[in-house]
Amino acid sequence: MMESLLSPTLLLLIFFLLCTTTSGQLSAPAQAPSQAPSGSTTTAGQSSPPAPSPSGPLAPSASSSPADIVAILRKARKFSTFIGLLKSTQMDAEINSELKKKSNAGFTIFAPTDSAFSDLKTGTLNSFTDNQKAALTKFHIINSFLTISQFQTVSNPLHTSANGNTKEFPLNVIGNGTQVNMTTGLVNTTVDSTVYSDGQLAVYEIPQVLLSQGILRTQAPAPAPLPPKPKKVTPLNSQAPSRSTTSAVDSSDGTALPHHAPIVVSIGVAVLAALRLCL
Ligand SMILES: *[C@@H]1O[C@H](CO)[C@@H](O)[C@H](O)[C@H]1NC(C)=O
Ligand SMILES: *[C@@H]1O[C@H](CO)[C@@H](O)[C@H](O)[C@H]1NC(C)=O
Ligand SMILES: *[C@@H]1O[C@H](CO)[C@@H](O)[C@H](O)[C@H]1NC(C)=O
Repeated sequence: MMESLLSPTLLLLIFFLLCTTTSGQLSAPAQAPSQAPSGSTTTAGQSSPPAPSPSGPLAPSASSSPADIVAILRKARKFSTFIGLLKSTQMDAEINSELKKKSNAGFTIFAPTDSAFSDLKTGTLNSFTDNQKAALTKFHIINSFLTISQFQTVSNPLHTSANGNTKEFPLNVIGNGTQVNMTTGLVNTTVDSTVYSDGQLAVYEIPQVLLSQGILRTQAPAPAPLPPKPKKVTPLNSQAPSRSTTSAVDSSDGTALPHHAPIVVSIGVAVLAALRLCL
């Protein structure tokens, strides 16, 4: 009587052992990629500075009608490529409608000239996807009004409209009160002139297009999907989770695992044989 009760339990247990060994094998490689992204998130979180201080005392805005970014750029007659980008990404409408609001932080826009765009490697802009064009455009827009003088004390990297993530979109600016240099890691450039400034909207001419890794990378590589965990067997008891953890740790050490399975099998066979003999 005892034997007939025991043997199904033993069979299940053996099956379970085999399965946890297998799932340990599968889940071990998944651990490495799943750790990498979380590590880099931490780094990004640490490196992102406190939000840049708002643009200081409210400048009395003399202008009765809000600025129109496209009209301002068009008047200067050398920003047609950038105007095209603002329109195709609808950032022009977004900026203009934000500027119409009573309280807004304002905008600072680094406008690359047409010759800056023609200095890019041939076909660069045409090869960009819509997402890349949007990222490129937003990378030139800061969601606060900054005077030339304020670039001396601004906290780097600046938060551009492109980010969330100043690691992929780093923009570091340094000024001495009259001159403003900036770097993205890929591009060093300098403000050539102030195109427009009214206390809410500042437009600065730059002679180079600001590129960053986050723009050039077409799509951020998605983290590797975790392999589906086999769910052939429902755990028999509370030991299940700790067992599978143990085998995952074993197998990540490398060579231990391949020897496990045969041992388990032979133990199982031995037990079965023993049971047969008993019966
Ligand atoms: C900007 O860069 C130029 C050339 O590298 C350098 O001579 C100048 O001192 C820099 N200005 C500031 C404010 O850092
Ligand atoms: C800022 O740097 C530029 C270039 O190095 C220089 O011509 C200018 O006089 C400097 N301005 C101040 C306020 O130091
Ligand atoms: C930008 O300037 C830094 C420091 O002045 C220099 O190390 C770097 O090579 C420059 N990068 C480019 C792309 O010119």
